[in-house]
Amino acid sequence: MAGTRIAIFDTTLRDGEQSPGCSMNLAEKVRLAHQLENLGVDIIEAGFPIASEGDFAAVAAVARECRNVTVAALCRTSAQDVLKAAAALRGAARPRIHTFVATSDLHLEYKLRKTRAEVIEMTRRAVALASDCAEEVEFSAEDATRSQVDYLCEVLAVAVEAGAKIINIPDTVGYTMPGEFSQLIATVRERVVGDRDIKISVHCHNDLGLAVANSLAAIAAGARQVECTINGIGERAGNASLEEIVMAMKVRSDKLPYDNSIDTQQLYPASQLLSEIIGFSVQPNKAIVGRNAFAHEAGIHQHGMISNPLCYEIMTPESVGVPANRLVLGKHSGRHALALRYEELGYSPRAEDIEAVYKRFTKLADRKKRIYDQDLIALLSAASRSNDVLSCDAAGVSNTAVAARV
Ligand code: KIV
Ligand code: ZN
Repeated sequence: MAGTRIAIFDTTLRDGEQSPGCSMNLAEKVRLAHQLENLGVDIIEAGFPIASEGDFAAVAAVARECRNVTVAALCRTSAQDVLKAAAALRGAARPRIHTFVATSDLHLEYKLRKTRAEVIEMTRRAVALASDCAEEVEFSAEDATRSQVDYLCEVLAVAVEAGAKIINIPDTVGYTMPGEFSQLIATVRERVVGDRDIKISVHCHNDLGLAVANSLAAIAAGARQVECTINGIGERAGNASLEEIVMAMKVRSDKLPYDNSIDTQQLYPASQLLSEIIGFSVQPNKAIVGRNAFAHEAGIHQHGMISNPLCYEIMTPESVGVPANRLVLGKHSGRHALALRYEELGYSPRAEDIEAVYKRFTKLADRKKRIYDQDLIALLSAASRSNDVLSCDAAGVSNTAVAARV
Protein backbone atom coordinates (compact mmCIF):
# COMPACT_ATOMS: atom_id res chain seq x y z
CA MET A 1 0.00 0.00 0.00
CA ALA A 2 1.40 3.40 -0.92
CA GLY A 3 1.61 5.71 2.04
CA THR A 4 3.64 8.35 3.79
CA ARG A 5 7.37 7.88 3.39
CA ILE A 6 9.48 7.03 6.45
CA ALA A 7 13.20 7.75 6.14
CA ILE A 8 15.42 4.95 7.41
CA PHE A 9 18.49 6.35 9.20
CA ASP A 10 21.01 3.62 9.88
CA THR A 11 23.43 4.18 12.75
CA THR A 12 25.08 0.74 12.81
CA LEU A 13 28.43 2.33 11.98
CA ARG A 14 28.14 4.94 14.76
CA ASP A 15 25.89 3.99 17.70
CA GLY A 16 26.23 0.30 16.84
CA GLU A 17 29.96 0.39 16.39
CA GLN A 18 30.57 2.23 19.67
CA SER A 19 29.07 -0.62 21.73
CA PRO A 20 31.28 -3.27 23.36
CA GLY A 21 32.60 -5.95 21.00
CA CYS A 22 31.27 -4.26 17.86
CA SER A 23 34.24 -2.25 16.66
CA MET A 24 35.15 -2.40 12.97
CA ASN A 25 38.17 -1.33 10.98
CA LEU A 26 37.99 1.03 8.03
CA ALA A 27 37.74 -1.63 5.32
CA GLU A 28 34.98 -3.39 7.27
CA LYS A 29 33.03 -0.15 7.71
CA VAL A 30 33.20 0.60 3.98
CA ARG A 31 32.14 -2.95 3.16
CA LEU A 32 29.13 -2.72 5.48
CA ALA A 33 28.30 0.77 4.16
CA HIS A 34 28.06 -0.64 0.63
CA GLN A 35 25.67 -3.31 1.88
CA LEU A 36 23.58 -0.63 3.64
CA GLU A 37 23.41 1.28 0.36
CA ASN A 38 22.34 -1.96 -1.32
CA LEU A 39 19.71 -2.46 1.33
CA GLY A 40 18.31 0.98 0.47
CA VAL A 41 18.71 2.97 3.68
CA ASP A 42 18.21 6.73 3.26
CA ILE A 43 20.95 7.85 5.60
CA ILE A 44 24.13 6.15 6.82
CA GLU A 45 25.53 7.66 10.01
CA ALA A 46 29.16 6.74 9.42
CA GLY A 47 30.79 7.88 12.66
CA PHE A 48 31.72 10.59 15.14
CA PRO A 49 34.71 12.29 13.45
CA ILE A 50 36.14 14.07 16.50
CA ALA A 51 36.16 10.85 18.55
CA SER A 52 39.25 9.40 16.82
CA GLU A 53 41.31 9.57 13.67
CA GLY A 54 39.83 6.19 12.72
CA ASP A 55 36.30 7.57 12.95
CA PHE A 56 37.26 10.61 10.89
CA ALA A 57 38.83 8.41 8.20
CA ALA A 58 35.84 6.07 8.16
CA VAL A 59 33.34 8.92 7.69
CA ALA A 60 35.50 10.38 4.91
CA ALA A 61 35.83 6.98 3.19
CA VAL A 62 32.10 6.19 3.37
CA ALA A 63 31.33 9.72 2.12
CA ARG A 64 33.66 9.19 -0.84
CA GLU A 65 32.41 5.70 -1.70
CA CYS A 66 28.66 5.79 -1.09
CA ARG A 67 27.21 8.20 -3.61
CA ASN A 68 23.54 7.20 -3.57
CA VAL A 69 22.80 7.85 0.05
CA THR A 70 23.01 10.68 2.58
CA VAL A 71 26.06 10.29 4.80
CA ALA A 72 25.79 11.76 8.30
CA ALA A 73 28.53 12.60 10.78
CA LEU A 74 27.86 13.11 14.48
CA CYS A 75 29.24 16.01 16.54
CA ARG A 76 28.67 17.73 19.85
CA THR A 77 27.99 21.48 19.89
CA SER A 78 31.50 22.97 20.10
CA ALA A 79 32.74 24.73 16.97
CA GLN A 80 35.71 22.35 16.86
CA ASP A 81 33.38 19.32 16.82
CA VAL A 82 31.11 20.77 14.14
CA LEU A 83 34.02 21.75 11.89
CA LYS A 84 35.57 18.31 12.23
CA ALA A 85 32.31 16.67 11.13
CA ALA A 86 32.10 19.09 8.20
CA ALA A 87 35.68 18.30 7.18
CA ALA A 88 35.05 14.54 7.28
CA LEU A 89 31.99 14.99 5.06
CA ARG A 90 33.73 17.19 2.51
CA GLY A 91 33.66 14.59 -0.29
CA ALA A 92 30.07 13.44 0.33
CA ALA A 93 27.45 13.56 -2.41
CA ARG A 94 24.77 14.26 0.22
CA PRO A 95 26.30 15.36 3.54
CA ARG A 96 24.39 15.77 6.78
CA ILE A 97 25.84 17.21 10.00
CA HIS A 98 24.17 15.71 13.05
CA THR A 99 24.80 17.79 16.15
CA PHE A 100 23.52 16.96 19.63
CA VAL A 101 23.37 18.18 23.19
CA ALA A 102 21.61 16.81 26.25
CA THR A 103 18.45 18.54 27.46
CA SER A 104 17.52 16.69 30.67
CA ASP A 105 18.25 18.45 33.97
CA LEU A 106 20.11 15.32 35.08
CA HIS A 107 22.56 15.56 32.17
CA LEU A 108 22.83 19.35 32.43
CA GLU A 109 23.75 19.17 36.11
CA TYR A 110 25.97 16.10 36.27
CA LYS A 111 27.42 15.70 32.79
CA LEU A 112 27.53 19.08 31.08
CA ARG A 113 27.54 21.33 34.19
CA LYS A 114 25.62 23.91 32.19
CA THR A 115 22.50 25.94 32.84
CA ARG A 116 19.42 25.63 30.65
CA ALA A 117 20.16 29.05 29.14
CA GLU A 118 23.71 27.99 28.27
CA VAL A 119 22.48 24.84 26.49
CA ILE A 120 20.05 26.95 24.45
CA GLU A 121 22.93 29.17 23.36
CA MET A 122 25.14 26.13 22.56
CA THR A 123 22.34 24.75 20.40
CA ARG A 124 21.83 28.01 18.53
CA ARG A 125 25.53 28.43 17.74
CA ALA A 126 26.17 24.80 16.75
CA VAL A 127 23.19 24.54 14.42
CA ALA A 128 23.95 27.92 12.82
CA LEU A 129 27.59 26.93 12.21
CA ALA A 130 26.59 23.49 10.90
CA SER A 131 24.08 25.14 8.52
CA ASP A 132 26.91 27.24 7.09
CA CYS A 133 28.89 24.03 6.41
CA ALA A 134 26.23 21.61 5.12
CA GLU A 135 22.87 21.83 3.44
CA GLU A 136 21.28 19.36 5.79
CA VAL A 137 21.52 19.68 9.56
CA GLU A 138 19.97 17.37 12.11
CA PHE A 139 19.72 18.32 15.77
CA SER A 140 19.30 15.78 18.58
CA ALA A 141 18.17 16.53 22.13
CA GLU A 142 19.97 13.78 24.03
CA ASP A 143 17.91 12.22 26.85
CA ALA A 144 14.83 13.93 25.42
CA THR A 145 12.42 11.50 27.08
CA ARG A 146 13.64 12.49 30.56
CA SER A 147 13.70 16.21 29.75
CA GLN A 148 11.16 18.72 30.97
CA VAL A 149 8.77 19.01 28.01
CA ASP A 150 8.50 22.84 27.85
CA TYR A 151 12.27 23.16 27.94
CA LEU A 152 12.72 20.40 25.35
CA CYS A 153 10.34 22.21 22.99
CA GLU A 154 12.16 25.48 23.60
CA VAL A 155 15.54 23.94 22.64
CA LEU A 156 14.07 22.24 19.58
CA ALA A 157 12.46 25.50 18.45
CA VAL A 158 15.83 27.26 18.74
CA ALA A 159 17.45 24.49 16.65
CA VAL A 160 14.78 24.93 13.96
CA GLU A 161 15.17 28.73 13.93
CA ALA A 162 18.93 28.26 13.53
CA GLY A 163 18.49 26.01 10.50
CA ALA A 164 17.93 22.38 11.58
CA LYS A 165 15.70 20.55 9.09
CA ILE A 166 15.49 17.35 11.12
CA ILE A 167 14.86 17.32 14.87
CA ASN A 168 15.60 14.05 16.59
CA ILE A 169 13.97 12.93 19.84
CA PRO A 170 16.21 10.24 21.35
CA ASP A 171 15.08 7.88 24.08
CA THR A 172 18.72 7.71 25.08
CA VAL A 173 18.32 5.33 28.02
CA GLY A 174 15.40 3.27 26.70
CA TYR A 175 13.08 4.58 29.42
CA THR A 176 9.91 5.65 27.67
CA MET A 177 6.71 3.67 26.98
CA PRO A 178 4.89 3.58 23.62
CA GLY A 179 1.83 5.62 24.70
CA GLU A 180 3.93 8.20 26.50
CA PHE A 181 6.38 8.52 23.59
CA SER A 182 3.62 8.94 21.07
CA GLN A 183 2.21 11.80 23.20
CA LEU A 184 5.62 13.46 23.32
CA ILE A 185 5.96 13.27 19.53
CA ALA A 186 2.47 14.76 19.10
CA THR A 187 3.42 17.60 21.46
CA VAL A 188 6.65 18.37 19.56
CA ARG A 189 4.75 18.25 16.31
CA GLU A 190 2.16 20.69 17.54
CA ARG A 191 4.38 23.09 19.48
CA VAL A 192 7.59 23.07 17.43
CA VAL A 193 6.87 21.93 13.88
CA GLY A 194 3.40 23.22 13.05
CA ASP A 195 2.99 23.40 9.29
CA ARG A 196 6.70 23.89 8.56
CA ASP A 197 8.71 21.40 6.48
CA ILE A 198 10.65 20.01 9.44
CA LYS A 199 11.09 16.27 9.90
CA ILE A 200 10.69 14.67 13.32
CA SER A 201 13.06 11.77 13.88
CA VAL A 202 13.25 9.24 16.71
CA HIS A 203 16.16 7.26 18.09
CA CYS A 204 15.17 4.58 20.59
CA HIS A 205 17.34 2.42 22.81
CA ASN A 206 16.26 -1.00 23.95
CA ASP A 207 16.93 -1.09 27.69
CA LEU A 208 13.38 -2.26 28.42
CA GLY A 209 13.01 -4.17 25.15
CA LEU A 210 10.70 -1.44 23.79
CA ALA A 211 12.86 0.27 21.17
CA VAL A 212 10.92 -1.04 18.16
CA ALA A 213 7.49 -0.58 19.80
CA ASN A 214 8.42 2.99 20.76
CA SER A 215 9.70 3.76 17.25
CA LEU A 216 6.48 2.48 15.68
CA ALA A 217 4.35 4.44 18.16
CA ALA A 218 6.33 7.56 17.24
CA ILE A 219 5.74 6.98 13.52
CA ALA A 220 2.02 6.69 14.14
CA ALA A 221 2.21 10.03 16.00
CA GLY A 222 3.98 11.83 13.16
CA ALA A 223 7.71 10.95 13.23
CA ARG A 224 8.99 10.60 9.67
CA GLN A 225 12.52 9.33 10.28
CA VAL A 226 13.59 6.36 12.43
CA GLU A 227 17.12 5.75 13.60
CA CYS A 228 18.01 2.10 13.91
CA THR A 229 20.74 -0.51 13.48
CA ILE A 230 21.25 -3.88 11.80
CA ASN A 231 20.67 -6.68 14.32
CA GLY A 232 19.72 -3.96 16.85
CA ILE A 233 23.34 -3.50 17.96
CA GLY A 234 24.13 -0.35 19.94
CA GLU A 235 24.94 1.07 23.35
CA ARG A 236 24.00 -1.29 26.25
CA ALA A 237 20.89 -3.28 25.19
CA GLY A 238 21.17 -1.80 21.71
CA ASN A 239 19.15 0.40 19.38
CA ALA A 240 15.87 -0.28 17.62
CA SER A 241 16.44 -3.10 15.13
CA LEU A 242 16.17 -1.97 11.51
CA GLU A 243 14.91 -5.32 10.24
CA GLU A 244 12.14 -5.47 12.86
CA ILE A 245 10.88 -1.94 12.14
CA VAL A 246 10.90 -2.49 8.39
CA MET A 247 9.18 -5.88 8.51
CA ALA A 248 6.57 -4.64 11.01
CA MET A 249 5.68 -1.93 8.47
CA LYS A 250 5.58 -4.47 5.65
CA VAL A 251 3.68 -7.29 7.37
CA ARG A 252 1.24 -4.96 9.17
CA SER A 253 0.76 -2.39 6.43
CA ASP A 254 -2.94 -2.49 7.36
CA LYS A 255 -2.10 -0.79 10.66
CA LEU A 256 1.12 0.94 9.54
CA PRO A 257 0.42 2.38 6.07
CA TYR A 258 3.91 3.79 5.49
CA ASP A 259 6.46 3.41 2.72
CA ASN A 260 10.19 3.07 2.95
CA SER A 261 12.98 2.41 0.51
CA ILE A 262 14.30 -0.85 1.94
CA ASP A 263 14.81 -3.91 -0.26
CA THR A 264 13.73 -6.43 2.35
CA GLN A 265 15.49 -9.32 0.59
CA GLN A 266 18.76 -7.65 1.58
CA LEU A 267 17.94 -7.80 5.31
CA TYR A 268 19.35 -11.26 6.00
CA PRO A 269 22.51 -10.70 3.90
CA ALA A 270 23.09 -7.43 5.82
CA SER A 271 22.58 -9.17 9.15
CA GLN A 272 24.94 -11.99 8.19
CA LEU A 273 27.60 -9.60 6.93
CA LEU A 274 27.51 -7.59 10.16
CA SER A 275 27.75 -10.78 12.25
CA GLU A 276 30.71 -11.93 10.22
CA ILE A 277 32.49 -8.59 10.60
CA ILE A 278 31.99 -8.13 14.34
CA GLY A 279 32.47 -11.83 15.06
CA PHE A 280 29.23 -12.67 16.80
CA SER A 281 25.86 -13.77 15.57
CA VAL A 282 22.43 -12.71 16.77
CA GLN A 283 20.56 -14.81 19.34
CA PRO A 284 18.87 -17.82 17.65
CA ASN A 285 15.35 -16.57 18.39
CA LYS A 286 15.99 -12.99 17.18
CA ALA A 287 13.00 -11.80 15.13
CA ILE A 288 13.47 -11.75 11.33
CA VAL A 289 17.15 -12.73 11.14
CA GLY A 290 17.74 -15.28 13.95
CA ARG A 291 18.50 -18.80 12.79
CA ASN A 292 15.27 -20.08 14.41
CA ALA A 293 13.09 -17.26 13.04
CA PHE A 294 11.73 -19.60 10.36
CA ALA A 295 12.45 -22.99 11.96
CA HIS A 296 9.63 -25.32 12.93
CA GLU A 297 10.40 -28.17 15.28
CA ALA A 298 7.15 -29.27 16.96
CA GLY A 299 5.28 -31.99 15.05
CA ILE A 300 1.98 -30.12 15.16
CA HIS A 301 3.64 -27.01 13.75
CA GLN A 302 5.40 -29.00 11.02
CA HIS A 303 2.07 -30.53 10.03
CA GLY A 304 0.46 -27.08 9.84
CA MET A 305 3.38 -25.72 7.82
CA ILE A 306 3.15 -28.51 5.27
CA SER A 307 -0.62 -28.02 4.86
CA ASN A 308 -0.32 -24.23 4.59
CA PRO A 309 2.73 -22.16 5.64
CA LEU A 310 0.40 -19.30 6.68
CA CYS A 311 -0.59 -21.42 9.71
CA TYR A 312 2.67 -20.52 11.43
CA GLU A 313 4.52 -18.01 9.22
CA ILE A 314 3.44 -14.36 8.87
CA MET A 315 6.14 -13.68 6.27
CA THR A 316 8.19 -15.91 4.03
CA PRO A 317 11.89 -16.50 4.67
CA GLU A 318 12.54 -15.43 1.06
CA SER A 319 10.95 -12.02 1.68
CA VAL A 320 13.78 -11.15 4.07
CA GLY A 321 16.49 -12.86 2.03
CA VAL A 322 16.75 -16.10 3.99
CA PRO A 323 17.66 -18.78 1.44
CA ALA A 324 14.57 -20.71 0.36
CA ASN A 325 16.46 -23.95 0.24
CA ARG A 326 16.62 -25.06 3.87
CA LEU A 327 18.79 -28.08 3.04
CA VAL A 328 20.39 -29.27 6.24
CA LEU A 329 24.14 -29.30 5.86
CA GLY A 330 25.96 -31.99 7.79
CA LYS A 331 28.85 -34.42 7.43
CA HIS A 332 27.19 -36.22 4.53
CA SER A 333 26.84 -33.09 2.44
CA GLY A 334 29.02 -32.70 -0.62
CA ARG A 335 30.87 -29.82 -2.27
CA HIS A 336 27.87 -29.12 -4.48
CA ALA A 337 25.48 -28.48 -1.59
CA LEU A 338 28.15 -26.37 0.06
CA ALA A 339 28.68 -24.22 -3.04
CA LEU A 340 24.92 -23.84 -3.48
CA ARG A 341 24.49 -22.60 0.08
CA TYR A 342 27.29 -20.02 -0.34
CA GLU A 343 25.57 -18.76 -3.46
CA GLU A 344 22.27 -18.49 -1.61
CA LEU A 345 24.04 -16.48 1.06
CA GLY A 346 25.24 -14.00 -1.56
CA TYR A 347 28.80 -15.28 -2.02
CA SER A 348 30.24 -16.70 -5.20
CA PRO A 349 33.31 -18.69 -4.23
CA ARG A 350 35.38 -20.29 -6.99
CA ALA A 351 35.91 -24.05 -7.19
CA GLU A 352 39.30 -23.71 -5.45
CA ASP A 353 37.70 -21.67 -2.63
CA ILE A 354 35.12 -24.43 -2.12
CA GLU A 355 37.89 -27.02 -2.10
CA ALA A 356 39.74 -25.12 0.64
CA VAL A 357 36.62 -24.56 2.72
CA TYR A 358 35.35 -28.11 2.22
CA LYS A 359 38.24 -29.66 4.21
CA ARG A 360 37.46 -27.41 7.15
CA PHE A 361 33.73 -28.05 6.70
CA THR A 362 34.06 -31.84 6.95
CA LYS A 363 36.22 -31.54 10.09
CA LEU A 364 33.62 -29.28 11.70
CA ALA A 365 30.76 -31.52 10.56
CA ASP A 366 32.45 -34.43 12.38
CA ARG A 367 32.17 -32.46 15.62
CA LYS A 368 28.83 -30.67 15.13
CA LYS A 369 25.41 -32.12 14.33
CA ARG A 370 24.30 -29.20 12.21
CA ILE A 371 26.24 -26.58 10.35
CA TYR A 372 24.60 -23.14 10.31
CA ASP A 373 25.02 -20.28 7.83
CA GLN A 374 27.09 -18.43 10.40
CA ASP A 375 29.49 -21.41 10.60
CA LEU A 376 29.87 -21.37 6.81
CA ILE A 377 30.70 -17.66 6.75
CA ALA A 378 33.21 -18.17 9.57
CA LEU A 379 34.80 -21.07 7.64
CA LEU A 380 35.18 -18.91 4.54
CA SER A 381 36.76 -16.12 6.59
CA ALA A 382 39.09 -18.57 8.37
CA ALA A 383 40.15 -20.15 5.08
CA SER A 384 40.88 -16.73 3.59
CA ARG A 385 42.90 -15.68 6.66
CA SER A 386 45.12 -18.73 6.37
CA ASN A 387 45.41 -18.10 2.61
CA ASP A 388 43.70 -21.35 1.63
CA VAL A 389 41.36 -19.06 -0.26
CA LEU A 390 43.53 -17.45 -2.88
CA SER A 391 42.78 -13.77 -3.43
CA CYS A 392 42.12 -11.85 -0.24
CA ASP A 393 41.14 -8.24 0.25
CA ALA A 394 41.95 -6.04 3.23
CA ALA A 395 39.00 -7.40 5.18
CA GLY A 396 40.39 -10.90 4.79
CA VAL A 397 37.69 -12.47 2.66
CA SER A 398 37.91 -13.67 -0.90
CA ASN A 399 37.51 -10.82 -3.36
CA THR A 400 35.13 -12.80 -5.48
CA ALA A 401 33.02 -13.51 -2.44
CA VAL A 402 32.93 -9.85 -1.43
CA ALA A 403 32.21 -8.62 -4.92
CA ALA A 404 29.15 -10.81 -5.08
CA ARG A 405 27.80 -9.55 -1.81
CA VAL A 406 28.17 -5.78 -1.94
O1 KIV B 1 21.18 7.78 22.25
C1 KIV B 1 21.38 8.98 21.94
O2 KIV B 1 20.85 9.92 22.54
C2 KIV B 1 22.27 9.24 20.82
C3 KIV B 1 22.30 10.64 20.29
C4 KIV B 1 23.70 11.10 20.04
C5 KIV B 1 21.46 10.73 19.05
O3 KIV B 1 22.89 8.33 20.31
ZN1 ZN C 1 21.96 6.35 20.82
